[in-house]
Amino acid sequence: MSGTGLPEGVERRPIRGETGLATRGDPVYGESTDGDWRRWETRRSKLGALLDRGVDTGIVGGETVLYLGAASGTTVSHVADFAGPTYAVEFAPRPMRDLLGVAEDRSRLFPLLADARTPEQYAHVVEPVDLLVQDVATRGQARVALANRMFLRDDGRLVLAVKARSEDVTRDPSDTFEAVLKELESGYELLATERLDPTHTDHLGVVARPR
Ligand SMILES: C[S@@+](CC[C@H](N)C(=O)[O-])C[C@H]1O[C@@H](n2cnc3c(N)ncnc32)[C@H](O)[C@@H]1O
Repeated sequence: MSGTGLPEGVERRPIRGETGLATRGDPVYGESTDGDWRRWETRRSKLGALLDRGVDTGIVGGETVLYLGAASGTTVSHVADFAGPTYAVEFAPRPMRDLLGVAEDRSRLFPLLADARTPEQYAHVVEPVDLLVQDVATRGQARVALANRMFLRDDGRLVLAVKARSEDVTRDPSDTFEAVLKELESGYELLATERLDPTHTDHLGVVARPR
Protein backbone atom coordinates (compact mmCIF):
# COMPACT_ATOMS: atom_id res chain seq x y z
CA MET A 1 0.00 0.00 0.00
CA SER A 2 1.24 3.54 -0.73
CA GLY A 3 1.23 6.23 1.99
CA THR A 4 -2.20 7.37 0.78
CA GLY A 5 -4.07 4.29 2.01
CA LEU A 6 -4.62 3.32 -1.63
CA PRO A 7 -3.14 0.17 -3.18
CA GLU A 8 0.22 0.59 -4.91
CA GLY A 9 -0.62 1.45 -8.51
CA VAL A 10 -3.78 3.42 -7.64
CA GLU A 11 -3.35 7.18 -7.32
CA ARG A 12 -5.51 10.21 -6.85
CA ARG A 13 -4.62 12.35 -9.88
CA PRO A 14 -5.99 15.36 -11.71
CA ILE A 15 -7.13 14.32 -15.17
CA ARG A 16 -8.85 16.91 -17.38
CA GLY A 17 -9.36 19.28 -14.48
CA GLU A 18 -10.98 16.72 -12.16
CA THR A 19 -9.10 14.90 -9.41
CA GLY A 20 -10.03 11.30 -8.78
CA LEU A 21 -8.72 7.75 -8.62
CA ALA A 22 -6.65 6.53 -11.55
CA THR A 23 -4.69 3.45 -12.61
CA ARG A 24 -2.23 2.88 -15.42
CA GLY A 25 -3.48 0.87 -18.39
CA ASP A 26 -5.25 0.99 -21.72
CA PRO A 27 -8.66 2.72 -21.54
CA VAL A 28 -11.72 0.46 -21.50
CA TYR A 29 -15.02 2.33 -21.15
CA GLY A 30 -14.44 5.85 -22.45
CA GLU A 31 -12.83 7.11 -19.24
CA SER A 32 -10.57 10.19 -19.37
CA THR A 33 -6.86 9.63 -19.72
CA ASP A 34 -3.62 11.49 -19.17
CA GLY A 35 -0.62 9.71 -20.66
CA ASP A 36 -0.61 6.16 -19.22
CA TRP A 37 -3.11 7.05 -16.51
CA ARG A 38 -6.84 6.54 -16.83
CA ARG A 39 -9.60 7.74 -14.56
CA TRP A 40 -11.28 5.10 -12.35
CA GLU A 41 -14.93 6.22 -12.56
CA THR A 42 -16.11 5.46 -9.03
CA ARG A 43 -19.73 6.14 -9.97
CA ARG A 44 -19.45 3.06 -12.17
CA SER A 45 -17.47 0.90 -9.78
CA LYS A 46 -18.36 -0.24 -6.24
CA LEU A 47 -14.79 -1.26 -5.46
CA GLY A 48 -13.63 2.13 -6.74
CA ALA A 49 -16.23 3.85 -4.54
CA LEU A 50 -15.00 1.95 -1.46
CA LEU A 51 -11.38 2.95 -2.11
CA ASP A 52 -12.40 6.53 -2.88
CA ARG A 53 -14.23 6.76 0.46
CA GLY A 54 -11.12 5.62 2.32
CA VAL A 55 -12.58 2.29 3.52
CA ASP A 56 -9.73 0.04 4.71
CA THR A 57 -9.96 -2.86 2.25
CA GLY A 58 -6.52 -4.21 3.13
CA ILE A 59 -5.63 -4.22 -0.59
CA VAL A 60 -1.97 -3.30 -1.07
CA GLY A 61 -1.48 -4.01 -4.80
CA GLY A 62 0.13 -7.01 -6.47
CA GLU A 63 -2.37 -9.53 -5.01
CA THR A 64 -3.60 -12.62 -6.81
CA VAL A 65 -7.32 -11.96 -7.33
CA LEU A 66 -10.51 -13.87 -8.02
CA TYR A 67 -13.17 -11.42 -9.26
CA LEU A 68 -16.76 -12.67 -9.42
CA GLY A 69 -19.24 -10.81 -11.63
CA ALA A 70 -16.76 -9.17 -13.99
CA ALA A 71 -19.37 -8.04 -16.56
CA SER A 72 -17.62 -6.27 -19.45
CA GLY A 73 -14.61 -5.36 -17.33
CA THR A 74 -15.15 -1.82 -16.02
CA THR A 75 -13.84 -2.55 -12.52
CA VAL A 76 -11.80 -5.68 -13.09
CA SER A 77 -9.72 -3.88 -15.74
CA HIS A 78 -8.56 -1.44 -13.04
CA VAL A 79 -7.91 -4.34 -10.66
CA ALA A 80 -5.74 -6.04 -13.26
CA ASP A 81 -3.84 -2.74 -13.68
CA PHE A 82 -2.59 -2.83 -10.07
CA ALA A 83 -2.91 -6.50 -9.01
CA GLY A 84 -1.13 -9.72 -9.96
CA PRO A 85 -2.90 -12.58 -11.77
CA THR A 86 -6.60 -11.68 -11.88
CA TYR A 87 -9.19 -14.39 -12.62
CA ALA A 88 -12.45 -12.80 -13.78
CA VAL A 89 -15.63 -14.90 -13.63
CA GLU A 90 -18.72 -13.86 -15.59
CA PHE A 91 -21.59 -16.09 -16.67
CA ALA A 92 -23.28 -13.94 -19.33
CA PRO A 93 -21.82 -14.50 -22.82
CA ARG A 94 -22.44 -10.96 -24.08
CA PRO A 95 -20.36 -9.00 -21.52
CA MET A 96 -17.82 -11.84 -21.70
CA ARG A 97 -17.18 -10.94 -25.33
CA ASP A 98 -16.20 -7.40 -24.28
CA LEU A 99 -14.16 -8.75 -21.37
CA LEU A 100 -12.12 -10.90 -23.75
CA GLY A 101 -11.26 -7.72 -25.67
CA VAL A 102 -10.21 -5.99 -22.42
CA ALA A 103 -7.98 -8.96 -21.56
CA GLU A 104 -6.18 -8.73 -24.91
CA ASP A 105 -4.34 -5.66 -23.61
CA ARG A 106 -3.79 -7.11 -20.12
CA SER A 107 -1.54 -10.12 -19.76
CA ARG A 108 -2.52 -10.65 -16.09
CA LEU A 109 -6.29 -10.79 -16.69
CA PHE A 110 -7.86 -14.22 -17.21
CA PRO A 111 -11.59 -14.19 -18.13
CA LEU A 112 -13.59 -17.31 -17.22
CA LEU A 113 -17.08 -17.91 -18.60
CA ALA A 114 -18.60 -19.67 -15.59
CA ASP A 115 -21.27 -19.50 -12.91
CA ALA A 116 -19.94 -18.17 -9.59
CA ARG A 117 -22.50 -20.33 -7.74
CA THR A 118 -20.68 -23.46 -8.89
CA PRO A 119 -16.95 -22.82 -8.28
CA GLU A 120 -16.15 -26.45 -9.16
CA GLN A 121 -16.43 -25.24 -12.78
CA TYR A 122 -13.23 -23.21 -12.45
CA ALA A 123 -11.48 -24.85 -9.47
CA HIS A 124 -9.00 -26.55 -11.81
CA VAL A 125 -7.86 -23.18 -13.21
CA VAL A 126 -7.84 -20.76 -10.27
CA GLU A 127 -4.87 -20.78 -7.88
CA PRO A 128 -5.16 -19.72 -4.19
CA VAL A 129 -5.88 -15.98 -4.08
CA ASP A 130 -5.15 -13.10 -1.70
CA LEU A 131 -8.24 -11.18 -2.68
CA LEU A 132 -11.77 -12.25 -3.56
CA VAL A 133 -13.87 -9.45 -5.07
CA GLN A 134 -17.55 -10.15 -5.55
CA ASP A 135 -20.13 -8.08 -7.42
CA VAL A 136 -22.68 -10.58 -8.71
CA ALA A 137 -26.25 -9.51 -9.36
CA THR A 138 -27.85 -12.71 -8.11
CA ARG A 139 -29.93 -14.08 -5.28
CA GLY A 140 -27.88 -15.83 -2.60
CA GLN A 141 -24.86 -13.49 -2.59
CA ALA A 142 -23.67 -14.74 0.82
CA ARG A 143 -23.81 -18.32 -0.46
CA VAL A 144 -21.66 -17.34 -3.45
CA ALA A 145 -19.05 -15.75 -1.16
CA LEU A 146 -19.07 -18.82 1.10
CA ALA A 147 -18.76 -21.24 -1.84
CA ASN A 148 -15.75 -19.35 -3.21
CA ARG A 149 -14.04 -19.02 0.17
CA MET A 150 -12.07 -22.18 -0.70
CA PHE A 151 -9.87 -20.13 -3.06
CA LEU A 152 -8.99 -17.51 -0.46
CA ARG A 153 -5.76 -17.77 1.52
CA ASP A 154 -6.16 -17.74 5.31
CA ASP A 155 -4.80 -14.17 5.50
CA GLY A 156 -6.76 -13.05 2.41
CA ARG A 157 -9.58 -10.54 2.08
CA LEU A 158 -13.09 -10.62 0.70
CA VAL A 159 -14.39 -7.34 -0.72
CA LEU A 160 -18.06 -7.77 -1.52
CA ALA A 161 -20.73 -5.45 -2.91
CA VAL A 162 -24.16 -6.68 -1.78
CA LYS A 163 -26.96 -5.66 -4.12
CA ALA A 164 -30.11 -5.65 -1.99
CA ARG A 165 -32.50 -5.67 -4.94
CA SER A 166 -31.03 -8.88 -6.34
CA GLU A 167 -31.87 -10.67 -3.08
CA ASP A 168 -35.42 -9.37 -2.72
CA VAL A 169 -36.90 -6.33 -4.51
CA THR A 170 -39.74 -5.97 -2.02
CA ARG A 171 -37.75 -6.09 1.22
CA ASP A 172 -36.24 -3.08 3.01
CA PRO A 173 -32.57 -3.05 1.92
CA SER A 174 -31.38 -2.69 5.55
CA ASP A 175 -33.14 -5.95 6.46
CA THR A 176 -31.62 -7.67 3.44
CA PHE A 177 -28.12 -6.47 4.38
CA GLU A 178 -28.57 -7.74 7.92
CA ALA A 179 -29.62 -11.19 6.68
CA VAL A 180 -26.74 -11.40 4.17
CA LEU A 181 -24.17 -10.36 6.80
CA LYS A 182 -25.51 -12.93 9.26
CA GLU A 183 -25.16 -15.70 6.72
CA LEU A 184 -21.71 -14.47 5.69
CA GLU A 185 -20.51 -14.67 9.28
CA SER A 186 -20.64 -18.46 9.20
CA GLY A 187 -17.44 -18.36 7.13
CA TYR A 188 -16.05 -14.84 7.40
CA GLU A 189 -15.14 -12.32 10.05
CA LEU A 190 -16.56 -8.91 9.11
CA LEU A 191 -14.02 -6.07 9.17
CA ALA A 192 -15.93 -3.14 7.66
CA THR A 193 -19.26 -2.29 6.06
CA GLU A 194 -20.20 0.83 4.09
CA ARG A 195 -23.49 1.81 2.43
CA LEU A 196 -22.64 2.94 -1.10
CA ASP A 197 -25.63 5.21 -1.62
CA PRO A 198 -26.19 7.58 -3.32
CA THR A 199 -23.82 6.63 -6.17
CA HIS A 200 -24.69 2.92 -5.90
CA THR A 201 -28.27 2.78 -4.65
CA ASP A 202 -29.15 -0.04 -2.23
CA HIS A 203 -25.65 -1.52 -2.24
CA LEU A 204 -23.55 -2.37 0.79
CA GLY A 205 -19.77 -2.67 0.60
CA VAL A 206 -18.31 -5.34 2.89
CA VAL A 207 -14.71 -6.15 3.79
CA ALA A 208 -14.14 -9.48 5.53
CA ARG A 209 -11.54 -12.16 6.14
CA PRO A 210 -11.98 -15.93 6.24
CA ARG A 211 -12.58 -17.55 9.64
C1 LIG B 1 -23.35 -5.32 -11.42
S1 LIG B 1 -22.73 -6.31 -12.68
C2 LIG B 1 -20.99 -6.32 -12.37
C3 LIG B 1 -20.28 -5.04 -12.67
C4 LIG B 1 -18.79 -5.20 -12.56
N1 LIG B 1 -18.41 -5.86 -11.33
C5 LIG B 1 -18.05 -3.90 -12.63
O1 LIG B 1 -17.96 -3.18 -11.62
O2 LIG B 1 -17.53 -3.57 -13.70
C6 LIG B 1 -23.15 -7.91 -12.11
C7 LIG B 1 -22.69 -9.02 -13.01
O3 LIG B 1 -22.86 -10.25 -12.33
C8 LIG B 1 -23.08 -11.22 -13.31
N2 LIG B 1 -23.60 -12.42 -12.64
C9 LIG B 1 -24.79 -12.56 -12.02
N3 LIG B 1 -24.90 -13.79 -11.51
C10 LIG B 1 -23.74 -14.43 -11.79
C11 LIG B 1 -23.26 -15.73 -11.53
N4 LIG B 1 -23.99 -16.59 -10.82
N5 LIG B 1 -22.03 -16.06 -11.96
C12 LIG B 1 -21.29 -15.18 -12.66
N6 LIG B 1 -21.69 -13.94 -12.95
C13 LIG B 1 -22.90 -13.56 -12.52
C14 LIG B 1 -24.05 -10.54 -14.29
O4 LIG B 1 -24.08 -11.19 -15.54
C15 LIG B 1 -23.45 -9.14 -14.33
O5 LIG B 1 -22.57 -9.00 -15.40
